[in-house]
Amino acid sequence: MEKECVCSCADKKMLELQKIIERNKGVKGAVIQVLHEAQEVYGYLPSEVQKVIAEQMNVPLAEIYGIVTFYAQFSLKPKGQYKISVCLGTACYVKGSNLLVDKLKEELKISVGDCTPDRKFSLDTCRCVGACGLAPVMTINDDVYGRLVPDDVPGILAKYKE
Ligand code: FES
Repeated sequence: MEKECVCSCADKKMLELQKIIERNKGVKGAVIQVLHEAQEVYGYLPSEVQKVIAEQMNVPLAEIYGIVTFYAQFSLKPKGQYKISVCLGTACYVKGSNLLVDKLKEELKISVGDCTPDRKFSLDTCRCVGACGLAPVMTINDDVYGRLVPDDVPGILAKYKE
């Protein structure tokens, strides 16, 4: 009979990270690829993960940190199960998307860039998502909501709270 694995979740993630690093070690320009894959495993890039990548890929930690903070696709903070993003592109902004952000902050009791303590929702802003005709636009994971007013926010959030 096969033995059941008793590794903790953190151990499993670390094993996965080691495999990613092994696959990419010595490959020129592979650091960004490693960071991408590590973020898929962890959901974000905590400082311990950056340290492991720096040490094992032989890259200064400051360089890793520089990459992570430069590219918008990398996150230093955990994301929620539902990733909310409000478009602050020009078309959405002039139609009041900043008011949607305010309402979301109030409803979720978090700031932009943060995640609720239960890890259900995270709140971010973005640039044009290519749906300007629906301005102002908000996305939750792959769902797109348009022509919103702040009073629409509680009802939309309720759908994800069930
Ligand atoms: S500006 Fe918001 S979708 Fe284009």
